[in-house]
Amino acid sequence: MGFLSERSKYAVNPLEEDDAIAEAIERKGGEIIKLNRGDPAVYFPTPKYIKEAYVEAISENKTHYTETRGVRELVAAIMGRYRRMYGLELEEEDIVVTAGVSEALYMLSSALVDRKDRVIVFKPYYTQYIPYIGLAGGSEYLLDYKENEGWSIDVDELDRHVRKLKHKARIKYILLTNPNNPTGTVLSRKTLEGIVDLANEHNLLLVSDEIYDEIVFNGARFTSIAQVARGIPHVILNGASKNFDATGFRIGFTIVPGEDNLSKELKAKLADFASVRVSANAPAQYALAEGMNNVIEHSRAIRYMVNEIEDRVNFAVRLLDENKHLSTVRPRGAYYIFPRIDLKQLHFKSDKEFVDSLLKSKYVQITRGSGFGTPGHIRIVSLPPKEILGEAITRLNEFCRRKR
Ligand SMILES: Cc1ncc(COP(=O)(O)O)c(C=O)c1O
Repeated sequence: MGFLSERSKYAVNPLEEDDAIAEAIERKGGEIIKLNRGDPAVYFPTPKYIKEAYVEAISENKTHYTETRGVRELVAAIMGRYRRMYGLELEEEDIVVTAGVSEALYMLSSALVDRKDRVIVFKPYYTQYIPYIGLAGGSEYLLDYKENEGWSIDVDELDRHVRKLKHKARIKYILLTNPNNPTGTVLSRKTLEGIVDLANEHNLLLVSDEIYDEIVFNGARFTSIAQVARGIPHVILNGASKNFDATGFRIGFTIVPGEDNLSKELKAKLADFASVRVSANAPAQYALAEGMNNVIEHSRAIRYMVNEIEDRVNFAVRLLDENKHLSTVRPRGAYYIFPRIDLKQLHFKSDKEFVDSLLKSKYVQITRGSGFGTPGHIRIVSLPPKEILGEAITRLNEFCRRKR
């Protein structure tokens, strides 16, 4: 062992792992099309009314530490949003504002997970879930989203695993991502109800990362865990990054709506964790409050962005479908596409080799499926305008044709 902690092994991010290769190409004058980072604010500037609120907060000297659990204005705005969207009546104590969902995940696993505890996670998963569970000393228990059922969850299979696992270990929570990164799946109400029944039967806490809850398209209907889990302990994670197109604000939040003992204990402990790190970004909190409260401006902005995303995703899927070495489930939320690649036919040993070789020869940067726990796939971020997206996928398709 060296000087660094054993836990430092968790400081890895597959989304960024090829940046050194990309930088070397760029230094020689090559131009890379980057489809590896899911950052909407790169392609859709953060709405003007939100930016103005940020500037106003600064000019009013709102640059100090804030209430540790979040400024009143934002907490009230979050309560308003959940009342409007999901008919949920929240109390201030149910909400803790964090530095992005990333910090929310960190606080949540810190508050809940001990050594040897297990967290049920479905793969492909959002990359950061695993490090946060590991840092807390626990480990993930991985189950598959079902690719041939549109990357949905098989509730009976989950039930079988829970029955087996709960005799061997403490299951701390089931972590859901809805809509999903990287597959773009939106879970049906029926599936969620099945999961809630199971959680009720086995006394399990549900955590739902709903950071893309307004980025839903292709006819999908989104159901929040809050709408089906009433009376069952659950946590909702959300934030500024995706729906409000403000990734750089670094604002997220946790919501624990329940009044049962577990929920009460958890919300108090999350507030303690918030106080340990003092406060989230002050002007960004005020700006997000305006982002949520100005319903007219927000509806206009989100409608525009989601229509564009739907168009770009469907365009990209059509082009990917021309490639007979790929098979793609059409996404209905978020902005990622997660095709399966026929590595054998293309003579690649792994998705990593595929992705690296594509970057070096065609200057297109995407992410390997194994980074999300599901090898043999690739993740493509479908945010850029169609000219760029089209160029990237044309290069990808040509790369597969040549390779064969
Ligand atoms: C499912 C999911 N959860 C959480 C995050 C992190 O969000 P934040 O910017 O709020 O830290 C992302 C970012 O891509 C995500 O896709």
